[in-house]
Amino acid sequence: MRAGFVLVLALALGACGPKSPALTPEQIAARAAAAAPADARLAGLYAGACRNCHGQPGAGAPLALDQAAWDGRWAKGEQTLLDHTISGFNGMPAGGQCFSCSADDYRALIRFMAGREE
Ligand code: HEC
Repeated sequence: MRAGFVLVLALALGACGPKSPALTPEQIAARAAAAAPADARLAGLYAGACRNCHGQPGAGAPLALDQAAWDGRWAKGEQTLLDHTISGFNGMPAGGQCFSCSADDYRALIRFMAGREE
């Protein structure tokens, strides 16, 4: 059952052909460095805080829009990610160095970085 589904998925992805190869680490880093939330105010908050780590390879932070880096984290649930943003989590500093972010701002910033922005 499951193997069949994976096969169908692989075939569907394969159908996209050579135009959509997996991104290299350099491409993932370049995309993270250039990415910004669509909303101007959020983009400002992001540039002043999160991007300093989540837009830089080597900071140890999951890079913005790096699906592979975010999928496992997203699976923890939005509330856990919000708690970890507010209280800190290993190398992630409490508050993410954003001193004017509300909980809703954090939620939107997390969604953006995790590629779950609608
Ligand atoms: C000083 C660097 C730094 C800044 C600034 C920063 N982060 Fe992080 N963040 C990290 C690191 C490092 C991790 C990885 C921690 C780990 O998994 O060990 C992380 C992880 C996360 C996670 C995943 C937590 C989890 O449970 O997996 C979220 C969500 C997050 N950051 C949100 C934010 C948001 C939102 C901002 C901006 C308001 C921000 N971060 C700013 C360094 C930073």
